[in-house]
Amino acid sequence: MRDSRETQLIRAFILGFPVKHSRSPLIHNYWIRQLGLHGVYEKIEVAPENIRAFFDRLRSSESGFVGGNVTIPHKEAAAAYADHCDDVVREIGAANVLWLENGRLYASNTDAAGFLACLDEEAPGWDKTQRAVVMGAGGASRSVVYALRQRGLSEIHVVNRTLDRAQELVDRFGAKVHAHQMDSIGEVIAGAGLFVNTTSLGMGGSNVPELPFDRMASNGVVNDIIYTPRLTPILMQAARAGRVSVGGLGMLLHQAVPGFEKWFGQRPEITDTLRQMIISDVDRET
Ligand code: ATR
Repeated sequence: MRDSRETQLIRAFILGFPVKHSRSPLIHNYWIRQLGLHGVYEKIEVAPENIRAFFDRLRSSESGFVGGNVTIPHKEAAAAYADHCDDVVREIGAANVLWLENGRLYASNTDAAGFLACLDEEAPGWDKTQRAVVMGAGGASRSVVYALRQRGLSEIHVVNRTLDRAQELVDRFGAKVHAHQMDSIGEVIAGAGLFVNTTSLGMGGSNVPELPFDRMASNGVVNDIIYTPRLTPILMQAARAGRVSVGGLGMLLHQAVPGFEKWFGQRPEITDTLRQMIISDVDRET
């Protein structure tokens, strides 16, 4: 007789609003196929006013899901409504991975680890610098600043259009973080070994002001966590200034690995085929 667990469909989700453009289903369903699992990874769109009811239904296990990913704008709500948050979620205040265990909802955050894994892979040695500049002070910035502090960088400079929001990151993450207004970017970026864009500037080809990347350290690395388009205006500026540029696709791929392992029980691989599949999909749209 076959074990019932072998035949039971394992269902996971990506929860967002909107969620139409998410590439996560492409990634997870590729791994499901590659590993020959009986599973599915589905998009779920829930409006903010219905999010509490969604989590309650999930917890009651009526939904049939083992867990899933959470994206904008529900990451903070996921952290607030989960029964158990790990240390990373508590520090960042947002969760991107949920799973059920004995009727309790657990939350984790793999964005920070995904960000670090991407830079380690695509710009090894990037963390030798002590000075990093992070543009933006929203949800994505919190994961990046947390990750940089974890890695032990001694100066993390947050530049943001609204100074108060940058200051909130200083309050949250402490003395190694410094807040600046966008117009001081010229002084802040001087000698920096890493620049990370966490704003939506440049997404979908929107305009970006000229940034003084030539003032960074000569081996400086510029990372844009946006991956649509693949070659963002910020990455193009970085290349023109002769700096190493790293796109956002690596972070997307690396943050997906631990969630998949949690729900489906096997650690998946980021293969060249998978990377090419996502690149083709992004390039088709942009
Ligand atoms: P996310 O969760 O994706 O980080 P968010 O919390 O809305 O999104 O944060 C968006 C970030 O992009 C903020 O730092 C925002 O700056 P403000 O705090 O001043 O709003 C920044 N941002 C968005 N559009 C921008 C623009 N046109 N110019 C400069 N910064 C912008």
